[in-house]
Amino acid sequence: MDLNVILAAVSVLIFVALLAFFAFLVKHQADVEPEEKPVYGVELLEQHYAPGSTVEQPTPYYVAPIPAAPDPLEISANLDKKIVVGAAMLFGLFGLIGAYLLIQPALRAEAVEHQLSLDVRRGKALYASLCYDCHGRDGRGGTNPEGKQLPGLPLNKAEFKYEAIKADPAAVERVRRLLVSTIEQGRERPAPAYSMPAWARSHGGPLGAWQIKQLADLIMYGHDEDWADMPHIREEHGQTVAEVVPDPPKPPSGDVIARQVCAVCHSFTAGQASTSPLAPNLARYGVEGPIVAELRRAKDSGDADWLVKWVTNPASIKPGSAMPPYGQSAGGQLPEASVRLVVQYLLTLGR
Ligand code: HEC
Ligand code: HEC
Repeated sequence: MDLNVILAAVSVLIFVALLAFFAFLVKHQADVEPEEKPVYGVELLEQHYAPGSTVEQPTPYYVAPIPAAPDPLEISANLDKKIVVGAAMLFGLFGLIGAYLLIQPALRAEAVEHQLSLDVRRGKALYASLCYDCHGRDGRGGTNPEGKQLPGLPLNKAEFKYEAIKADPAAVERVRRLLVSTIEQGRERPAPAYSMPAWARSHGGPLGAWQIKQLADLIMYGHDEDWADMPHIREEHGQTVAEVVPDPPKPPSGDVIARQVCAVCHSFTAGQASTSPLAPNLARYGVEGPIVAELRRAKDSGDADWLVKWVTNPASIKPGSAMPPYGQSAGGQLPEASVRLVVQYLLTLGR
C-alpha cells in the first residue's frame, strides 16, 4: 500500500484516539469532582467578610496601578474551557495533516500530469521549428511534397511510445535514455550522409536540458492530435508547411581526408619520413605509385579501380598488409565517395 495512505490513516487514528482520550478525561474529571454550586453577589460578600466586620472602602481618588504582569486570577478563569479549545485546535491540526497526506498523492499525480502536458506542448513548438524538416510533419520521416527523401528516422512510432511500453519499466527507461542522448549528442555520419545534429549546449547546440526533456516527452507521450498539429504550428510561426530538406553535407575534399586520416601514418612531404616506418611517403605517388608488387599487378591487369580497392581494403589485394581498411564496405570509416576523392588526390601527387 502507498506509504502516504498509511501515514494518513495513522494520523487520523491518532487524531480520533486523542479526541476520545480527552473526552474521557473531561468526563472523569466531572465524575470525581462534582461541580460546586456557584456563588454570586451578596453571598460572596458573606463568605469573605464576617457579619459585622468593617468593609474597607477604597479612597475615591485612588487609582490602581496597572499590573505589570497579567492577573493570575484572570488567567485561571475558565482554564478548563481554554484547555479544551487549545486541545481541539491541536487535534484539528493533526486532522489537517492527516487529510493533506491523504489527498497529497492525488495532488502530486495531477501536477505531474499537468507538467507533462505543458512539456509536450513546448516540445511541439521546438519540433516544429528544429526537427520538422528532417523528421517530417507527422514525425514519421518519408518524403516531402516534392518527393525528396527526408533524412531523419521516424520518431512517431510505437516503439517510442510510453503507452505501448509502459508495462516494461526497463524499456521505458531505455527509450528515454536513447532519445535524450541522441538529441543531446546527435549522431555523426560521414558526409555525404546526413548526420543527426547535436542539440545540447554541452555539445555546441542551442538547447538546454529541459528543452531536450520536452522533445523526449513529445516523442514518448505525444498523441496523434499533437503530431497532426505540427503543420499549423509551422504556419503560425510563418514557416513553410512543406519540409525544406537541407542540402546533404559536402564530403571533405581529397586533400583534407589525406591530411586528417592518412597523414596519421603517411608523409605527404617529399623527403620527410612517414610517421609509421612501414607506410611509404606518398608525396609523389601520382608518378611513383603503385609500389607494392601485388598492387602493381592489379593495375596492370587493367582494373581501373585498383587504388580504390587498395584504400578500401588493402588486404583484399595484399593479404596481411599492415595498412588497415578505410572503406565502409570493409568496416572502415570512409564512404565510397570519400575513398574516390582521396584516390583522385593521390593520383595527382608529384605531377
Ligand atoms: C539535418 C537533419 C536532422 C535534423 C534537423 C534533426 N535530425 Fe534527428 N536524425 C537525423 C538523422 C539523419 C538521424 C539518423 C542518424 C542515424 O542513426 O544514422 C536522426 C536520428 C534521430 C533520432 C534517433 C532515432 C532512432 O530511431 O534511433 C532521434 C531521437 C532524433 N533524430 C531526434 C531529433 C530531434 C528531437 C530533432 C530536433 C531537435 C532532430 N532529430 C533534428 C537528422 C536530423
Ligand atoms: C595506420 C597507418 C596507415 C594509415 C592511417 C594509412 N595507411 Fe596507407 N599504408 C600503410 C602501410 C603500413 C602501408 C604499406 C602497406 C604494405 O606494404 O602492405 C601503406 C601503403 C599505402 C599505399 C601504397 C600502396 C602501394 O603499394 O602503392 C597507399 C597508396 C596508401 N597506403 C594510401 C593510404 C590512404 C589514401 C590512406 C588514408 C585514407 C592511408 N593510406 C592511411 C599504413 C597506413
